[in-house]
Amino acid sequence: MSLSRRRFLAASAVSATASGMILSAYALPTEGSGDLGEYAAVLAQEANPPAQPQPMANPPLPRAWAATEDNILGPYYRPGVPFYSKITPPMEPGNLLVISGRVYGIDTRRPLSYVTMDVWQANAEGRYDNDDPNAAPAAGVFLNRARVMTDQDGYYQYQTIHPGPYRIGANAWRPSHIHYLVRHPGYRQLVTQLYFRGDEHQRNDAWIKPSLTIDLAEERTRRGNYRKGTFDIILAADRR
Ligand SMILES: [Fe+2]
Repeated sequence: MSLSRRRFLAASAVSATASGMILSAYALPTEGSGDLGEYAAVLAQEANPPAQPQPMANPPLPRAWAATEDNILGPYYRPGVPFYSKITPPMEPGNLLVISGRVYGIDTRRPLSYVTMDVWQANAEGRYDNDDPNAAPAAGVFLNRARVMTDQDGYYQYQTIHPGPYRIGANAWRPSHIHYLVRHPGYRQLVTQLYFRGDEHQRNDAWIKPSLTIDLAEERTRRGNYRKGTFDIILAADRR
């Protein structure tokens, strides 16, 4: 386990030992972010897929159609590397942010391996890539959103930029937040949001929840500074 990863663990709100990573008996499932509202159409579409699915477009074949040649492994290979993800496209402007955490099952109190999570957010100006109906993103273009997966120890980490707050009414703002949609077999689907402590727009927000609000720590490097935070997730078992 790397030093930086141990530091992330030490900052974790979930009390876990380095060896077993077992949740406290008092752990509660991570809270959802409230009214599904904007997700309802997407979830309904997933529940009722079109009767005739469109065939997938065939990607172009490589020019030389032959098995890729092998090469030496070299002396520097290391197994067990975490899955590092990046939410933002290259050169996205904003203040660099690294979020990491673990995903646990409330029933086993242990980390869940290979959990996939949709993560999406506004840019530094509070804009989503699909918030302008007159300027929809081109097919296959996804900005400030990615799927993130946990590794064999339930650990995930992604690099992004601090999302901007955005106005939703004459005097109403949504504080900075990052959206999560977490799905894993045997567990209840979790739609939630991550918030940052100290955001002035949280005072009048209808959806803010203290359990979803994290602290950020300044990390200094020779090439510049960034902020990092830990957001652990506990999935409720699906008892249907
Ligand atoms: Fe949002």
